[in-house]
Amino acid sequence: MRGIILAGGSGTRLYPLTMATSKQLLPVYNKPLIYYPLTTLMLAGIREILIITTPEDQAAFQRLLKDGSQWGVSLSYAVQPHPGGTVQAILIGESFIREEPVALILGDNIFYGEGMPGILKESSGLTSGGLILAYYVQHPERYGVVSFDADEQVIEIEEKPETPRSNWAMTGLFFYAGDVVEVAKQVRPSPRGELEITDVNRHYMRQGRLKLRLLGRGNAWFDTGTHESLLEAANYVAAVERRQGLMIACPEEIAHALGFITGDHLDQLTGAYLKNNYGNYLQRLRATGRR
Ligand code: G1P
Repeated sequence: MRGIILAGGSGTRLYPLTMATSKQLLPVYNKPLIYYPLTTLMLAGIREILIITTPEDQAAFQRLLKDGSQWGVSLSYAVQPHPGGTVQAILIGESFIREEPVALILGDNIFYGEGMPGILKESSGLTSGGLILAYYVQHPERYGVVSFDADEQVIEIEEKPETPRSNWAMTGLFFYAGDVVEVAKQVRPSPRGELEITDVNRHYMRQGRLKLRLLGRGNAWFDTGTHESLLEAANYVAAVERRQGLMIACPEEIAHALGFITGDHLDQLTGAYLKNNYGNYLQRLRATGRR
């Protein structure tokens, strides 16, 4: 399976923070935001990844993430000239997808929890239709809202409804079979003028080919589109990391743990960070192994 990270968008809700830089490069405690969705894809076992950015920000992402070989993955880049909705990621990624199954993750989504690696691995085995993940939230009206029956069959998905039918928000991580490009081409702009991923998912739902995976209470899902939610995510990551002395979304650690890179390779990467806690952590990993 291939992966796409949508890291475009103007980030106007985060102004002035995002006037001179991309939202997905902002810090979430000790790492740039994009490390979180990137490592989510890595944990799903995905190693071919396309990163879609604004034209202005592409060079900064390339400076940070390079071609991915330092973490044993292959990163390529494409631009979204104007923000026009999540479905654009699929259309822009057409030649990258090449009718293979693909995972699409929004660049501002953070997933964490004991069960996540298993869920990700299983989801990346998808070969037909689509798969969405949903998370119980207090304010579902801010999201795509999923309603489902007793067998967890999706009945409806509504984009930011005034009166939500459930508290289950559709997260920004989607798994699709290779026919998703053809589905995406049929989507027309919504009332807010965007090509909504909800319409792609509804298409699979109507065909009875949309799977739903509920993320239970032991998981955390954050989107980081506002000042408050960005700070909340950072505080969460900081609290867990400082309590345990273990990192969330450290690409070097995950690449090594998954066997994408060797121990010697990890040692080489550590050199760049020796003067700070990030480097100390990587050194400690080598000395004590992964927990
Ligand atoms: C998008 C989707 C929405 C989903 C959300 C998750 O919203 O349209 O259905 O719940 O991502 O982050 P947007 O970020 O474009 O407002």
